[in-house]
Amino acid sequence: MSASQPVTPSHDWPTTVAAESWEGAHPDEWSRRLGLPRLCLYQRVGSTNDVLRELAEAGAAAGTMVIAEFQSAGRGRGGSAWHAPEGKALLFSVLLRPRQAAGQEFLPGTAPLRIGLAVAQGLEQAAGVSTRIKWPNDVLVEAGGKVAGILCEGAVGGPDGYLVAGIGINVAQQPADWPDSLRPRATSLWLATGQRVPRGRVLQEVGRRLLPLLTAAAGPLEPRELEEIARRDALVGRPIAIDGLARGRACGIAEDGTLRIREVQERETRVAAGTVRVLAASGAPQTSTSP
Ligand code: BTN
Repeated sequence: MSASQPVTPSHDWPTTVAAESWEGAHPDEWSRRLGLPRLCLYQRVGSTNDVLRELAEAGAAAGTMVIAEFQSAGRGRGGSAWHAPEGKALLFSVLLRPRQAAGQEFLPGTAPLRIGLAVAQGLEQAAGVSTRIKWPNDVLVEAGGKVAGILCEGAVGGPDGYLVAGIGINVAQQPADWPDSLRPRATSLWLATGQRVPRGRVLQEVGRRLLPLLTAAAGPLEPRELEEIARRDALVGRPIAIDGLARGRACGIAEDGTLRIREVQERETRVAAGTVRVLAASGAPQTSTSP
Protein backbone atom coordinates (compact mmCIF):
# COMPACT_ATOMS: atom_id res chain seq x y z
CA MET A 1 0.00 0.00 0.00
CA SER A 2 1.50 3.35 -0.96
CA ALA A 3 1.91 6.06 1.66
CA SER A 4 -1.14 7.96 0.56
CA GLN A 5 -3.70 5.23 0.07
CA PRO A 6 -6.91 5.82 1.99
CA VAL A 7 -7.54 3.67 5.01
CA THR A 8 -10.81 2.00 5.81
CA PRO A 9 -11.79 3.14 9.27
CA SER A 10 -12.13 0.29 11.73
CA HIS A 11 -15.72 1.09 12.65
CA ASP A 12 -18.62 1.04 10.30
CA TRP A 13 -18.99 4.15 8.17
CA PRO A 14 -21.37 3.28 5.38
CA THR A 15 -20.71 6.71 3.95
CA THR A 16 -16.97 6.19 3.46
CA VAL A 17 -15.96 5.74 -0.19
CA ALA A 18 -12.33 6.11 -1.30
CA ALA A 19 -11.32 8.04 -4.44
CA GLU A 20 -8.44 7.45 -6.86
CA SER A 21 -7.77 11.02 -7.84
CA TRP A 22 -8.63 14.61 -7.02
CA GLU A 23 -8.42 17.49 -9.51
CA GLY A 24 -6.67 15.19 -11.99
CA ALA A 25 -3.94 13.82 -9.72
CA HIS A 26 -3.42 10.72 -7.59
CA PRO A 27 -3.20 11.22 -3.81
CA ASP A 28 0.53 10.33 -3.88
CA GLU A 29 1.08 13.11 -6.40
CA TRP A 30 -0.82 15.56 -4.18
CA SER A 31 1.20 14.59 -1.12
CA ARG A 32 4.39 15.12 -3.16
CA ARG A 33 3.22 18.52 -4.43
CA LEU A 34 2.27 19.62 -0.93
CA GLY A 35 5.28 18.09 0.83
CA LEU A 36 3.08 16.02 3.16
CA PRO A 37 3.83 12.52 4.49
CA ARG A 38 0.45 11.02 3.58
CA LEU A 39 -2.74 12.11 1.88
CA CYS A 40 -5.97 10.12 1.93
CA LEU A 41 -8.65 10.89 -0.59
CA TYR A 42 -12.34 10.08 -0.36
CA GLN A 43 -15.33 10.55 -2.58
CA ARG A 44 -17.56 10.51 0.51
CA VAL A 45 -17.02 10.48 4.24
CA GLY A 46 -19.03 11.41 7.31
CA SER A 47 -16.54 14.10 8.36
CA THR A 48 -12.87 14.39 7.35
CA ASN A 49 -12.16 15.35 10.97
CA ASP A 50 -13.43 11.98 12.20
CA VAL A 51 -11.36 10.03 9.67
CA LEU A 52 -8.22 11.97 10.54
CA ARG A 53 -8.84 11.71 14.25
CA GLU A 54 -8.78 7.95 13.98
CA LEU A 55 -5.49 8.11 12.06
CA ALA A 56 -4.08 10.52 14.64
CA GLU A 57 -4.92 8.18 17.49
CA ALA A 58 -3.22 5.34 15.59
CA GLY A 59 -0.03 7.44 15.49
CA ALA A 60 -0.18 9.16 12.07
CA ALA A 61 2.54 11.72 11.39
CA ALA A 62 2.02 15.47 11.54
CA GLY A 63 0.96 16.67 8.11
CA THR A 64 -1.26 13.68 7.32
CA MET A 65 -4.16 15.05 5.31
CA VAL A 66 -7.65 13.79 4.49
CA ILE A 67 -9.58 15.33 1.59
CA ALA A 68 -13.20 14.54 0.70
CA GLU A 69 -15.41 15.52 -2.20
CA PHE A 70 -18.50 15.22 -0.02
CA GLN A 71 -19.24 14.94 3.70
CA SER A 72 -22.53 13.49 4.87
CA ALA A 73 -21.97 14.78 8.41
CA GLY A 74 -19.67 17.77 7.95
CA ARG A 75 -19.73 19.92 11.05
CA GLY A 76 -18.73 23.34 12.23
CA ARG A 77 -18.07 24.83 15.60
CA GLY A 78 -20.65 24.31 18.34
CA GLY A 79 -22.07 21.23 16.64
CA SER A 80 -23.50 23.17 13.69
CA ALA A 81 -23.72 21.42 10.32
CA TRP A 82 -21.32 22.35 7.53
CA HIS A 83 -23.04 22.29 4.15
CA ALA A 84 -21.14 21.83 0.89
CA PRO A 85 -22.40 20.25 -2.31
CA GLU A 86 -20.21 17.57 -3.87
CA GLY A 87 -17.24 18.92 -5.81
CA LYS A 88 -17.84 22.63 -5.14
CA ALA A 89 -15.82 23.15 -1.99
CA LEU A 90 -12.38 22.26 -0.71
CA LEU A 91 -12.97 20.06 2.33
CA PHE A 92 -9.98 18.73 4.20
CA SER A 93 -8.41 18.05 7.56
CA VAL A 94 -4.72 18.19 8.37
CA LEU A 95 -2.94 16.79 11.41
CA LEU A 96 -0.93 19.09 13.67
CA ARG A 97 1.25 17.85 16.49
CA PRO A 98 1.99 21.10 18.30
CA ARG A 99 5.11 21.16 20.44
CA GLN A 100 5.40 22.54 23.93
CA ALA A 101 8.48 24.76 23.86
CA ALA A 102 10.56 24.96 27.04
CA GLY A 103 9.86 28.10 29.04
CA GLN A 104 6.88 29.04 26.89
CA GLU A 105 3.20 28.88 27.73
CA PHE A 106 1.31 26.17 25.80
CA LEU A 107 -1.56 27.93 24.06
CA PRO A 108 -3.49 25.62 21.69
CA GLY A 109 -6.14 28.36 21.42
CA THR A 110 -3.78 30.19 19.10
CA ALA A 111 -4.02 27.37 16.49
CA PRO A 112 -7.33 28.39 14.85
CA LEU A 113 -5.97 31.93 14.41
CA ARG A 114 -2.66 30.79 12.94
CA ILE A 115 -4.54 28.44 10.62
CA GLY A 116 -7.05 31.20 9.79
CA LEU A 117 -4.19 33.48 8.81
CA ALA A 118 -2.67 30.75 6.59
CA VAL A 119 -6.06 30.21 4.93
CA ALA A 120 -6.65 33.96 4.49
CA GLN A 121 -3.23 34.52 2.93
CA GLY A 122 -3.57 31.41 0.76
CA LEU A 123 -6.95 32.59 -0.58
CA GLU A 124 -5.55 36.06 -1.28
CA GLN A 125 -2.76 34.51 -3.33
CA ALA A 126 -4.86 31.86 -5.09
CA ALA A 127 -7.89 34.00 -5.93
CA GLY A 128 -6.80 37.62 -5.61
CA VAL A 129 -9.47 38.38 -2.97
CA SER A 130 -9.03 40.57 0.09
CA THR A 131 -9.93 38.66 3.24
CA ARG A 132 -10.92 39.24 6.83
CA ILE A 133 -10.45 37.00 9.85
CA LYS A 134 -13.41 36.77 12.19
CA TRP A 135 -12.37 35.48 15.59
CA PRO A 136 -12.13 32.68 16.37
CA ASN A 137 -12.41 30.55 13.25
CA ASP A 138 -13.92 32.23 10.19
CA VAL A 139 -12.39 33.68 7.06
CA LEU A 140 -14.55 36.24 5.27
CA VAL A 141 -14.05 38.16 2.06
CA GLU A 142 -13.61 41.88 2.53
CA ALA A 143 -16.77 42.62 0.58
CA GLY A 144 -18.71 40.46 3.06
CA GLY A 145 -19.57 36.79 3.40
CA LYS A 146 -17.93 33.79 4.98
CA VAL A 147 -15.71 31.94 2.53
CA ALA A 148 -14.00 29.48 4.89
CA GLY A 149 -14.38 27.94 8.33
CA ILE A 150 -11.95 26.13 10.57
CA LEU A 151 -12.74 23.49 13.18
CA CYS A 152 -9.86 22.42 15.43
CA GLU A 153 -10.41 19.31 17.52
CA GLY A 154 -8.05 17.01 19.35
CA ALA A 155 -6.25 16.04 22.47
CA VAL A 156 -3.34 18.33 23.17
CA GLY A 157 -0.86 18.47 25.98
CA GLY A 158 0.77 15.03 26.26
CA PRO A 159 3.64 13.65 24.14
CA ASP A 160 1.14 12.09 21.69
CA GLY A 161 -1.03 15.18 21.63
CA TYR A 162 -2.60 16.18 18.36
CA LEU A 163 -4.87 18.73 16.77
CA VAL A 164 -7.07 17.90 13.79
CA ALA A 165 -7.55 21.11 11.82
CA GLY A 166 -10.65 20.77 9.64
CA ILE A 167 -10.90 23.39 6.93
CA GLY A 168 -13.84 24.05 4.63
CA ILE A 169 -13.36 26.53 1.79
CA ASN A 170 -16.27 27.59 -0.41
CA VAL A 171 -14.85 27.59 -3.91
CA ALA A 172 -17.56 27.24 -6.56
CA GLN A 173 -20.92 27.53 -4.78
CA GLN A 174 -23.72 29.67 -6.10
CA PRO A 175 -26.44 31.15 -3.84
CA ALA A 176 -28.83 28.23 -4.45
CA ASP A 177 -26.23 25.90 -2.90
CA TRP A 178 -26.89 27.18 0.63
CA PRO A 179 -30.03 26.78 2.70
CA ASP A 180 -32.05 30.00 3.13
CA SER A 181 -30.75 30.50 6.66
CA LEU A 182 -27.09 30.60 5.56
CA ARG A 183 -27.36 32.28 2.15
CA PRO A 184 -27.12 35.89 3.36
CA ARG A 185 -23.87 35.23 5.26
CA ALA A 186 -22.04 32.82 2.95
CA THR A 187 -19.98 33.36 -0.17
CA SER A 188 -17.61 31.44 -2.41
CA LEU A 189 -14.46 32.36 -4.30
CA TRP A 190 -16.48 32.21 -7.53
CA LEU A 191 -19.11 34.62 -6.19
CA ALA A 192 -16.51 36.93 -4.69
CA THR A 193 -14.26 37.14 -7.75
CA GLY A 194 -16.58 36.33 -10.66
CA GLN A 195 -13.97 33.75 -11.73
CA ARG A 196 -13.70 29.97 -11.45
CA VAL A 197 -10.74 29.41 -9.16
CA PRO A 198 -9.19 25.92 -9.49
CA ARG A 199 -9.44 23.99 -6.21
CA GLY A 200 -5.96 22.57 -6.75
CA ARG A 201 -4.49 26.05 -6.80
CA VAL A 202 -6.33 26.92 -3.57
CA LEU A 203 -5.06 23.75 -1.88
CA GLN A 204 -1.48 24.44 -2.93
CA GLU A 205 -1.50 28.04 -1.70
CA VAL A 206 -3.18 27.21 1.59
CA GLY A 207 -1.22 23.96 2.05
CA ARG A 208 2.20 25.54 1.76
CA ARG A 209 1.27 28.10 4.41
CA LEU A 210 0.16 25.33 6.77
CA LEU A 211 3.50 23.47 6.55
CA PRO A 212 5.32 25.62 9.13
CA LEU A 213 2.48 25.03 11.62
CA LEU A 214 2.51 21.22 11.58
CA THR A 215 4.90 20.71 14.47
CA ALA A 216 5.40 24.32 15.57
CA ALA A 217 5.26 25.29 19.24
CA ALA A 218 1.79 26.42 20.30
CA GLY A 219 3.22 29.50 21.95
CA PRO A 220 1.92 33.06 22.04
CA LEU A 221 1.18 34.76 18.72
CA GLU A 222 4.28 36.62 17.59
CA PRO A 223 4.19 40.36 16.84
CA ARG A 224 4.39 39.66 13.09
CA GLU A 225 1.41 37.26 13.32
CA LEU A 226 -0.59 39.67 15.48
CA GLU A 227 0.02 42.42 12.96
CA GLU A 228 -1.13 40.25 10.02
CA ILE A 229 -4.23 39.18 11.95
CA ALA A 230 -4.98 42.76 13.07
CA ARG A 231 -4.81 43.98 9.45
CA ARG A 232 -7.60 41.51 8.62
CA ASP A 233 -9.61 41.67 11.88
CA ALA A 234 -13.31 41.65 10.95
CA LEU A 235 -14.51 42.57 14.45
CA VAL A 236 -12.24 45.33 15.67
CA GLY A 237 -14.19 48.45 16.64
CA ARG A 238 -17.56 46.73 16.33
CA PRO A 239 -20.13 46.31 19.11
CA ILE A 240 -20.42 42.61 19.92
CA ALA A 241 -21.84 40.16 22.44
CA ILE A 242 -20.47 36.71 23.25
CA ASP A 243 -22.74 34.01 24.70
CA GLY A 244 -23.68 36.08 27.75
CA LEU A 245 -19.96 36.19 28.67
CA ALA A 246 -19.23 39.72 27.57
CA ARG A 247 -20.70 42.65 25.69
CA GLY A 248 -18.83 45.67 24.42
CA ARG A 249 -16.63 46.81 21.57
CA ALA A 250 -14.11 44.36 20.05
CA CYS A 251 -10.65 45.84 20.39
CA GLY A 252 -8.36 43.22 18.87
CA ILE A 253 -6.83 39.83 19.49
CA ALA A 254 -4.33 39.19 22.25
CA GLU A 255 -1.12 37.17 21.98
CA ASP A 256 -2.77 34.19 23.71
CA GLY A 257 -5.47 34.11 21.02
CA THR A 258 -8.25 35.56 23.20
CA LEU A 259 -10.60 38.24 21.91
CA ARG A 260 -10.19 41.60 23.63
CA ILE A 261 -13.44 43.42 24.39
CA ARG A 262 -13.84 46.90 25.84
CA GLU A 263 -16.95 46.77 27.96
CA VAL A 264 -19.35 49.64 28.41
CA GLN A 265 -17.56 50.80 31.56
CA GLU A 266 -14.30 50.98 29.53
CA ARG A 267 -12.98 47.93 31.38
CA GLU A 268 -11.16 45.47 29.09
CA THR A 269 -12.10 41.80 29.26
CA ARG A 270 -10.76 38.82 27.30
CA VAL A 271 -12.73 35.85 26.02
CA ALA A 272 -11.11 32.54 25.09
CA ALA A 273 -14.00 30.85 23.26
CA GLY A 274 -17.55 31.54 22.17
CA THR A 275 -19.89 32.64 19.43
CA VAL A 276 -19.72 36.29 18.51
CA ARG A 277 -22.84 38.26 17.62
CA VAL A 278 -22.14 41.56 15.91
CA LEU A 279 -24.64 44.11 17.27
CA ALA A 280 -26.24 47.01 15.48
CA ALA A 281 -25.20 50.39 16.87
CA SER A 282 -28.33 50.27 19.06
CA GLY A 283 -26.97 47.17 20.80
CA ALA A 284 -29.49 44.82 19.16
CA PRO A 285 -28.23 41.67 17.40
CA GLN A 286 -27.42 42.30 13.73
CA THR A 287 -25.89 39.05 12.55
CA SER A 288 -25.45 35.77 14.30
CA THR A 289 -22.68 33.21 14.20
CA SER A 290 -20.94 31.62 11.26
CA PRO A 291 -22.77 29.70 8.54
C1 BTN B 1 -17.05 26.51 11.26
O1 BTN B 1 -17.15 27.44 10.48
O2 BTN B 1 -17.76 26.44 12.29
C2 BTN B 1 -16.03 25.44 10.98
C3 BTN B 1 -16.34 24.69 9.71
C4 BTN B 1 -15.34 23.60 9.42
C5 BTN B 1 -15.73 22.74 8.23
C6 BTN B 1 -14.66 21.77 7.86
S1 BTN B 1 -14.98 20.94 6.34
C7 BTN B 1 -13.67 19.83 6.65
C8 BTN B 1 -13.72 19.49 8.12
N1 BTN B 1 -14.64 18.40 8.37
C9 BTN B 1 -15.70 18.77 9.09
O3 BTN B 1 -16.64 18.03 9.45
N2 BTN B 1 -15.59 20.07 9.40
C10 BTN B 1 -14.39 20.66 8.87
